[in-house]
Amino acid sequence: MITREQALELLNKYVQTPWLRLHMRESEVIMIGVAKELKEDEYIWGLSGLLHDLDFDYVNKDPQRHVIEFDILLEKENLKVGEDIPIDVYHAIKSHYEDHPDIKEKRESKMDFALGASENLSGFLVACALVQPDKKISSVGIDSVLKKLKKKDFAKAVNREYIYDIEKVGISLERFIEIALKEMNSIADEIGL
Ligand SMILES: [Fe+2]
Repeated sequence: MITREQALELLNKYVQTPWLRLHMRESEVIMIGVAKELKEDEYIWGLSGLLHDLDFDYVNKDPQRHVIEFDILLEKENLKVGEDIPIDVYHAIKSHYEDHPDIKEKRESKMDFALGASENLSGFLVACALVQPDKKISSVGIDSVLKKLKKKDFAKAVNREYIYDIEKVGISLERFIEIALKEMNSIADEIGL
């Protein structure tokens, strides 16, 4: 399995957009938080968060090619699924974009549902922080997140259904938000919030 250093090297090589790098890092820590809660492997779950959008800059953020070309990057880097990249990490990454007609992997496992939920909540919590007077993640409360989730025109691009699917891994929505806020707060300086 690749080390975290190797995963970071991949990120440095392929992801230049500042917000995207932060989004991948935020998704990593939220996945670690969820893994801790479920007593799953924190490294493996974190890895799926850290690498899930690896090809997004590479495909120039083209939704038609996104996640499809993740495989091309693995090939270029001579990384083998099942050896360097655990099969469940690969499946979670592919299925987080199951809406693409050419992606056959669907969200099935706990890690799959957790990744779809975590990467969507990451963006949503950033949006919640940015509307606080001090723009700090520490000013974001669970209740206000729950309220904003119900407001359809707030952070429209975020897929609420994927966030709500956290219940499929056996964690309530409230608890999930609490976990994610705690993890995001732990890297507040790094993510500039
Ligand atoms: Fe993402």
